[in-house]
Amino acid sequence: MNVLLLGSGGREHALAWKIAQSPLCSKLWIAPGNPGTTGCGENVALSPVDFDGLKAFCTQKKVDLVVVGPEAPLVAGIVDNFSADPATADIPVIGPTRDAAQLEGSKSFAKRFMLRHGIPTAAYREFNAGQLEQALAALPEFGLPVVLKADGLAAGKGVLICPTQTEAESELRAMLAGKFGEASTTVVLEAFLTGREMSVFALSDGQNYVLLPSAKDYKRIGEGDSGLNTGGMGAVCPVPFASPGLMQRIEERMVRPTLEGLKKDGLVYQGFIYFGLMIVGDNPFLIEYNCRLGDPETQAVMPMIKSDLLALLARVSGEGLKGASLQLEPGYAATVILASGGYPDTYQTGLEISGWSQAGDSLVFHAGTALSPDGRLITSGGRVLASTGRGGSLTDALQQAYAQAGKLNFEKKFIRKDIGFDAI
Ligand code: AMP
Ligand code: GLY
Repeated sequence: MNVLLLGSGGREHALAWKIAQSPLCSKLWIAPGNPGTTGCGENVALSPVDFDGLKAFCTQKKVDLVVVGPEAPLVAGIVDNFSADPATADIPVIGPTRDAAQLEGSKSFAKRFMLRHGIPTAAYREFNAGQLEQALAALPEFGLPVVLKADGLAAGKGVLICPTQTEAESELRAMLAGKFGEASTTVVLEAFLTGREMSVFALSDGQNYVLLPSAKDYKRIGEGDSGLNTGGMGAVCPVPFASPGLMQRIEERMVRPTLEGLKKDGLVYQGFIYFGLMIVGDNPFLIEYNCRLGDPETQAVMPMIKSDLLALLARVSGEGLKGASLQLEPGYAATVILASGGYPDTYQTGLEISGWSQAGDSLVFHAGTALSPDGRLITSGGRVLASTGRGGSLTDALQQAYAQAGKLNFEKKFIRKDIGFDAI
């Protein structure tokens, strides 16, 4: 099969690494990819939202399958765009249609969906820019801290947890006045849930699904889950506290009702669904959906999958996933992010990365790297590299991930030192 993978981060490097191992893969292109993905396939200088460019490429190169890493092309309707064009209508794109991608694209859409289909979630109300007074009046209903969420996509920054009434009021005013642009002209007020976070990923063909191993990511920049939210500073897979009983409750209360709900609502979903969960006591609550895999969770999840992922992806639009199962590797994987000092605020780019030879051929996924004009590997983003370790125990996996991460260097390298330790 000829495969085109869209995206350029650590998640896409991990997907490319896994797809390239499939005996079914004859050719893999990554658009636009990064210096790491060149080890798995060929990078193509096309943006994941340049639908016309991507369609022309797919037709010319006889691409058989498109795999989408990030949410932007899905929310912008890549699935609908490809299927509406006779030249590409037969090329399956793994992901939901634009309407179904609203599960990630709009918090208000997602909350209404959860309520409509009886999926446990935190209590909430939503308000638009013309309803500031009502929103301010509703705040005390939620107690403290209170969670404020911009309705639309805000580059992972649209969720604020406000510890005081004063802060909540001023943030609410700022959000409804356009703090996050269009994304926050509607705001969701939500009750704060206390529990343990984890994520579950399903691959759905619209009827049936397979679950990937569970993962837990570490979103805050600082140790002990302190400081600003980031895209994710590390991940472990599978989640040690995800007992078979808990996984069964998650399937019964979240996964199946979601797939049934999509069908009832006439939403076509053939792709990955990410369930962001808070486990309160023994009970799962759904905090959010994403219409793609997580980053950096994918960098820990892919190495745990023994089965041929490409064969499974091909089934999504082919024979379907009925009866499909996923074989897993034994043990655990852990991923540690090497970030650029200052992230998630401002940080420098263009810093040279050294230590590659010491790290050997271990699993180091590129997230924000580039090649300088003279061919040196340099930083180009806030999250620079993802070091993944594997082991029979989570402790072993973490040790390996940290040992590798320690060998790689760039100026102002920042690593959170406590990834996974609360989960051991
Ligand atoms: P989201 O973008 O919805 O995943 O939110 C980002 C982060 O905010 C989540 O990973 C949680 O850590 C936190 N969060 C979101 N909603 C809630 C909630 N209702 N209660 C507690 N924490 C939350
Ligand atoms: N790591 C969280 C996300 O990918 O949304």
